[in-house]
Amino acid sequence: MNDKAIGIFDSGLGGLTTVKEMAKILPGEDIIYFGDTLRVPYGNRSRETIIKYAMDDVKFLLKQDVKMIIAACGTVSSVATGLGLDIKIPFTGVVEPTAMAAYLSTKNKRIGVIGTTATIKTNSYKKEIKRLDPEIEVIEKDCPLFVPLVENGFIGNDTITTLVAEKYLLPIKNSNVDTLILGCTHYPIIQPIIERIMGRGVAIIDSGKATAKFAAKKLKELNLLNKKGKKGIHSFFVSDSIESFSKTADIFLGEESRCFVKKVDI
Ligand code: DGL
Repeated sequence: MNDKAIGIFDSGLGGLTTVKEMAKILPGEDIIYFGDTLRVPYGNRSRETIIKYAMDDVKFLLKQDVKMIIAACGTVSSVATGLGLDIKIPFTGVVEPTAMAAYLSTKNKRIGVIGTTATIKTNSYKKEIKRLDPEIEVIEKDCPLFVPLVENGFIGNDTITTLVAEKYLLPIKNSNVDTLILGCTHYPIIQPIIERIMGRGVAIIDSGKATAKFAAKKLKELNLLNKKGKKGIHSFFVSDSIESFSKTADIFLGEESRCFVKKVDI
């Protein structure tokens, strides 16, 4: 048993998809979230820059004395492997849990992966899926406009996001995949648009959800669950203005995001 909080970070709002799932699975856990909203997006930056930013994010969460860190960011998980930090607490990214969920879902052995440009360049999800089953065909596509659209609130039924999504997704749909990985944690925020375009026959794998399940299992196995029996407290930290974060977070998390949000310099 361990009453410390779980630390979750992302470049911006995307990791909230992991927070939402984590809160559903383990409602008694305290969560400390850090969104690096000043430096978002990470996905079109160099490897060196992404590693530097990820190390800053991890150091911030370590200072909060969390019991586990989740890099709820497809870009960090793909690019900044082996951060060069001595992290003495359990740590997970999103690639392995998500690839496993897709591997378990596909029937026709054709999986699509969408992510940021940095993520798709590493072929991280493809490599992991091929490790699980070399016969699976993996079709990858970067969608660089999705993160700025989400961060700027172009969500819901937005027509611009729908047009952009059609351009990105129709080639993947036409390649007959039966499973699509949302390899960036921002993408579940526009999942209804993605689902509409891909159609009913395609299972959508949300990296936030798959990772939250994986992390919860790991905490249980390591006997690190919070057993206080009270509803967990969620605290949100951002590196840019609270207003812009709260606006979109509100739509996505509802009342939850209004609990505690603080701007910090990291
Ligand atoms: N949510 C991040 C990811 O999963 C966003 C990346 C970005 O900041 O470009 O890749």
